[in-house]
Amino acid sequence: MIEVSNNLFGKVDEYISELLANEDAVLQQVIKSLEENGIENISVSPNQGKLLQVLSKSCQAKHILEIGTLGGYSTIWLARTLPDEGKLITIESDEKCAQIALKNIENAGLSSKVEIINGRALEILPDLIKQNRLPFDLIFIDADKPPYVEYFQMALKLSRPGTIIIADNVIRNGKVLDQDTTDEKVKGVQRLNSFLSGCKEVTATILQTVGVKEYDGMVVAIVNP
Ligand code: SAH
Ligand code: DHB
Ligand code: MG
Repeated sequence: MIEVSNNLFGKVDEYISELLANEDAVLQQVIKSLEENGIENISVSPNQGKLLQVLSKSCQAKHILEIGTLGGYSTIWLARTLPDEGKLITIESDEKCAQIALKNIENAGLSSKVEIINGRALEILPDLIKQNRLPFDLIFIDADKPPYVEYFQMALKLSRPGTIIIADNVIRNGKVLDQDTTDEKVKGVQRLNSFLSGCKEVTATILQTVGVKEYDGMVVAIVNP
């Protein structure tokens, strides 16, 4: 893990979130529910949650797809941007996480807007494509890393021009620079990043994310006309 002197990035992240990305009791309860169930908190940070909100509002998202729910922390940040008739579908393979998330989403008063699908994304996404369920306005990819390219390609099929596609954890403490890595998570995100470099269907970049979480990065892409 890279140490910045005196944890400056973490302190600045807290400074920003105190100003602009305060967690309320509902979001704090999500983190508590993970702790109580012995689940590692790999949710996005408060500022990253706020970034998701900014991106969602920038495209006035009415239909959001999330791949990887955990306790519903990012789900709640995103679903809070939806208009009354808006909907968010979130896919989670772990039954216990799906149950915990369901409770957290109820506690957030978002049950009417959020549908949790308990299943593996590689099986659920083709179903959504076949069922021709709406193009999504925003898609957040944050599940297991090895099939990230497949998730991205399926996300493209569920998109329209202007859809924003975000993928978390694509820098992995800078380990993406290691071409000889044997880490399957790193290899998965390297595959996505290389794929994007030749992908004509989107305009994309990667934001490095520093702060209270480990040093990482997020793909932010918009589907071209
Ligand atoms: N988006 C969440 C964090 C997600 S962590 C947040 O920021 O709050 C990644 C989640 O993906 C975990 O809950 C894990 O169980 C789930 N996951 C792993 N493999 C999956 C798969 N094949 N399909 C769907 N979900 C998966
Ligand atoms: C991991 C997954 C995540 O989605 C994340 O934000 C951080 C870490 C992981 O699997 O290691
Ligand atoms: Mg993540």
